[in-house]
Amino acid sequence: MAGGGGGTQTSGMGHVEGAHLEYCLPDGRVLFADVSFRVGEGSAVALVVANGAGKTTLLRLISGELKPHGGTVTVSGGLGVMPQFVGSIRDERTVRDLLVSVSQPRLRKAARAVGEAEHAVMTVDDEAAQMAQALSDWAEARGYEAETLWDMCTMAALGVPYERAAAGAHAQRRRAETTGA
Ligand SMILES: Nc1ncnc2c1ncn2[C@@H]1O[C@H](COP(=O)(O)OP(=O)(O)OP(=O)(O)O)[C@@H](O)[C@H]1O
Ligand SMILES: [Mg+2]
Repeated sequence: MAGGGGGTQTSGMGHVEGAHLEYCLPDGRVLFADVSFRVGEGSAVALVVANGAGKTTLLRLISGELKPHGGTVTVSGGLGVMPQFVGSIRDERTVRDLLVSVSQPRLRKAARAVGEAEHAVMTVDDEAAQMAQALSDWAEARGYEAETLWDMCTMAALGVPYERAAAGAHAQRRRAETTGA
Protein backbone atom coordinates (compact mmCIF):
# COMPACT_ATOMS: atom_id res chain seq x y z
CA MET A 1 0.00 0.00 0.00
CA ALA A 2 1.21 3.52 -0.67
CA GLY A 3 0.22 7.13 -0.48
CA GLY A 4 -0.13 7.69 3.22
CA GLY A 5 -3.58 6.16 3.55
CA GLY A 6 -5.42 7.83 6.38
CA GLY A 7 -2.33 9.65 7.65
CA THR A 8 -2.05 13.40 7.38
CA GLN A 9 0.09 14.63 4.47
CA THR A 10 2.26 17.68 5.07
CA SER A 11 4.94 19.31 2.94
CA GLY A 12 8.70 19.59 3.57
CA MET A 13 11.20 16.85 4.32
CA GLY A 14 9.81 13.36 4.29
CA HIS A 15 9.08 11.80 7.64
CA VAL A 16 6.86 9.31 9.43
CA GLU A 17 5.61 10.11 12.88
CA GLY A 18 3.40 8.37 15.38
CA ALA A 19 2.19 10.20 18.47
CA HIS A 20 0.64 8.41 21.45
CA LEU A 21 -0.71 5.60 19.30
CA GLU A 22 -3.10 3.18 20.89
CA TYR A 23 -4.66 0.09 19.41
CA CYS A 24 -7.20 -2.29 20.94
CA LEU A 25 -7.94 -5.80 19.70
CA PRO A 26 -11.50 -6.81 18.80
CA ASP A 27 -11.95 -8.37 22.27
CA GLY A 28 -11.13 -5.01 23.85
CA ARG A 29 -7.64 -5.96 24.99
CA VAL A 30 -5.17 -3.06 24.63
CA LEU A 31 -2.43 -4.27 22.27
CA PHE A 32 -0.31 -1.17 22.81
CA ALA A 33 -0.79 2.35 24.13
CA ASP A 34 1.15 5.59 24.06
CA VAL A 35 3.53 4.55 21.27
CA SER A 36 5.43 7.54 19.90
CA PHE A 37 8.25 7.71 17.35
CA ARG A 38 9.59 9.88 14.56
CA VAL A 39 11.56 8.63 11.55
CA GLY A 40 13.20 11.33 9.47
CA GLU A 41 14.15 11.29 5.81
CA GLY A 42 17.17 9.13 5.02
CA SER A 43 16.96 7.01 8.17
CA ALA A 44 16.98 3.25 8.05
CA VAL A 45 15.09 2.01 11.08
CA ALA A 46 14.21 -1.45 12.38
CA LEU A 47 11.38 -2.31 14.72
CA VAL A 48 12.50 -5.20 16.90
CA VAL A 49 10.16 -6.66 19.49
CA ALA A 50 8.81 -10.03 20.57
CA ASN A 51 6.44 -12.06 18.37
CA GLY A 52 2.86 -10.92 18.65
CA ALA A 53 3.78 -7.60 20.27
CA GLY A 54 2.12 -5.65 17.46
CA LYS A 55 4.74 -4.85 14.77
CA THR A 56 2.48 -5.68 11.85
CA THR A 57 -0.43 -3.85 13.46
CA LEU A 58 1.73 -0.75 13.98
CA LEU A 59 2.82 -0.80 10.33
CA ARG A 60 -0.80 -1.13 9.25
CA LEU A 61 -1.59 1.95 11.34
CA ILE A 62 1.25 3.85 9.65
CA SER A 63 0.06 2.86 6.18
CA GLY A 64 -3.48 3.93 7.03
CA GLU A 65 -4.88 0.44 6.57
CA LEU A 66 -6.05 0.48 10.20
CA LYS A 67 -7.21 3.39 12.31
CA PRO A 68 -5.68 3.87 15.77
CA HIS A 69 -7.99 4.03 18.78
CA GLY A 70 -5.87 6.86 20.10
CA GLY A 71 -3.09 9.10 18.88
CA THR A 72 -2.14 10.18 15.38
CA VAL A 73 0.00 9.16 12.42
CA THR A 74 1.61 11.89 10.35
CA VAL A 75 3.39 11.23 7.06
CA SER A 76 5.11 13.75 4.82
CA GLY A 77 6.58 12.98 1.42
CA GLY A 78 5.72 9.62 -0.13
CA LEU A 79 4.93 6.41 1.66
CA GLY A 80 5.29 3.01 0.07
CA VAL A 81 4.83 -0.31 1.81
CA MET A 82 6.31 -3.50 0.43
CA PRO A 83 4.53 -6.48 1.96
CA GLN A 84 6.46 -9.53 3.07
CA PHE A 85 4.65 -11.83 0.64
CA VAL A 86 3.47 -10.97 -2.86
CA GLY A 87 1.82 -13.47 -5.17
CA SER A 88 2.07 -16.41 -2.81
CA ILE A 89 -0.78 -18.70 -1.86
CA ARG A 90 -4.24 -17.12 -2.30
CA ASP A 91 -2.59 -13.88 -3.46
CA GLU A 92 -3.09 -12.98 -7.10
CA ARG A 93 -0.94 -9.85 -6.97
CA THR A 94 1.91 -9.59 -9.46
CA VAL A 95 5.30 -7.88 -9.27
CA ARG A 96 3.73 -5.15 -11.38
CA ASP A 97 0.97 -4.67 -8.79
CA LEU A 98 3.64 -4.30 -6.10
CA LEU A 99 5.64 -1.75 -8.12
CA VAL A 100 2.51 0.22 -8.96
CA SER A 101 1.38 0.16 -5.32
CA VAL A 102 4.53 1.96 -4.16
CA SER A 103 4.35 4.58 -6.95
CA GLN A 104 3.03 8.13 -6.90
CA PRO A 105 -0.79 8.49 -6.80
CA ARG A 106 -0.96 9.78 -10.40
CA LEU A 107 0.85 6.73 -11.71
CA ARG A 108 -1.36 4.43 -9.63
CA LYS A 109 -4.44 6.06 -11.12
CA ALA A 110 -3.09 5.73 -14.68
CA ALA A 111 -2.21 2.09 -14.06
CA ARG A 112 -5.74 1.41 -12.81
CA ALA A 113 -7.19 2.99 -15.97
CA VAL A 114 -4.95 0.83 -18.17
CA GLY A 115 -6.10 -2.25 -16.27
CA GLU A 116 -9.75 -1.28 -16.70
CA ALA A 117 -9.22 -0.62 -20.42
CA GLU A 118 -7.55 -4.03 -20.79
CA HIS A 119 -10.54 -5.61 -19.10
CA ALA A 120 -12.90 -3.70 -21.42
CA VAL A 121 -10.95 -4.84 -24.49
CA MET A 122 -11.41 -8.44 -23.40
CA THR A 123 -15.08 -8.20 -22.51
CA VAL A 124 -16.57 -5.50 -24.75
CA ASP A 125 -16.17 -5.11 -28.51
CA ASP A 126 -14.41 -2.07 -29.85
CA GLU A 127 -13.08 -0.48 -26.69
CA ALA A 128 -9.97 0.73 -28.52
CA ALA A 129 -10.69 4.37 -27.71
CA GLN A 130 -10.68 3.69 -23.96
CA MET A 131 -7.39 1.83 -24.32
CA ALA A 132 -5.86 4.61 -26.42
CA GLN A 133 -6.84 7.18 -23.80
CA ALA A 134 -5.55 5.04 -20.93
CA LEU A 135 -2.20 4.54 -22.68
CA SER A 136 -1.91 8.22 -23.45
CA ASP A 137 -2.56 9.02 -19.75
CA TRP A 138 -0.06 6.34 -18.79
CA ALA A 139 2.59 8.01 -20.97
CA GLU A 140 1.73 11.42 -19.55
CA ALA A 141 2.00 10.12 -15.97
CA ARG A 142 5.54 8.99 -16.99
CA GLY A 143 4.53 5.36 -16.78
CA TYR A 144 7.05 4.24 -19.39
CA GLU A 145 9.88 5.96 -17.48
CA ALA A 146 8.66 4.13 -14.38
CA GLU A 147 8.83 0.83 -16.25
CA THR A 148 12.48 1.56 -17.12
CA LEU A 149 13.20 2.04 -13.42
CA TRP A 150 11.19 -1.08 -12.54
CA ASP A 151 13.26 -3.03 -15.05
CA MET A 152 16.38 -2.07 -13.12
CA CYS A 153 14.64 -3.17 -9.90
CA THR A 154 13.55 -6.57 -11.20
CA MET A 155 16.96 -7.20 -12.81
CA ALA A 156 18.70 -6.39 -9.50
CA ALA A 157 16.25 -8.25 -7.26
CA LEU A 158 15.17 -11.18 -9.42
CA GLY A 159 17.60 -11.28 -12.33
CA VAL A 160 14.79 -11.05 -14.89
CA PRO A 161 13.55 -8.14 -16.99
CA TYR A 162 10.47 -6.24 -15.86
CA GLU A 163 8.35 -7.54 -18.72
CA ARG A 164 8.89 -11.07 -17.46
CA ALA A 165 8.72 -10.31 -13.75
CA ALA A 166 5.46 -8.41 -14.21
CA ALA A 167 3.88 -11.77 -15.04
CA GLY A 168 3.15 -10.97 -18.56
CA ALA A 169 -0.49 -10.41 -19.18
CA HIS A 170 -0.67 -6.65 -18.60
CA ALA A 171 2.68 -5.72 -20.03
CA GLN A 172 2.54 -7.98 -23.03
CA ARG A 173 -0.94 -6.90 -24.00
CA ARG A 174 0.05 -3.27 -23.66
CA ARG A 175 3.16 -3.79 -25.76
CA ALA A 176 1.04 -5.42 -28.45
CA GLU A 177 -1.29 -2.41 -28.33
CA THR A 178 1.44 0.18 -28.56
CA THR A 179 3.30 -1.56 -31.35
CA GLY A 180 0.11 -2.50 -33.16
CA ALA A 181 1.24 -6.13 -33.05
N1 LIG B 1 -7.76 -8.84 13.94
C1 LIG B 1 -7.28 -9.39 15.05
N2 LIG B 1 -8.06 -10.05 15.90
C2 LIG B 1 -7.59 -10.60 17.03
N3 LIG B 1 -6.32 -10.56 17.41
C3 LIG B 1 -5.47 -9.91 16.60
C4 LIG B 1 -5.88 -9.30 15.39
N4 LIG B 1 -4.79 -8.73 14.79
C5 LIG B 1 -3.78 -8.98 15.61
N5 LIG B 1 -4.15 -9.69 16.70
C6 LIG B 1 -3.29 -10.12 17.78
O1 LIG B 1 -2.54 -8.98 18.14
C7 LIG B 1 -1.22 -9.35 18.46
C8 LIG B 1 -0.25 -8.56 17.60
O2 LIG B 1 -0.32 -8.98 16.26
P1 LIG B 1 0.73 -8.48 15.21
O3 LIG B 1 0.51 -9.31 14.00
O4 LIG B 1 0.62 -7.00 15.06
O5 LIG B 1 2.10 -8.81 15.92
P2 LIG B 1 3.57 -8.91 15.32
O6 LIG B 1 4.46 -8.21 16.29
O7 LIG B 1 3.59 -8.45 13.92
O8 LIG B 1 3.81 -10.48 15.38
P3 LIG B 1 4.87 -11.38 14.58
O9 LIG B 1 6.18 -11.19 15.27
O10 LIG B 1 4.34 -12.77 14.76
O11 LIG B 1 4.86 -10.91 13.16
C9 LIG B 1 -1.13 -10.86 18.30
O12 LIG B 1 -1.30 -11.44 19.57
C10 LIG B 1 -2.29 -11.17 17.41
O13 LIG B 1 -2.76 -12.46 17.67
MG1 LIG C 1 4.12 -9.44 12.12
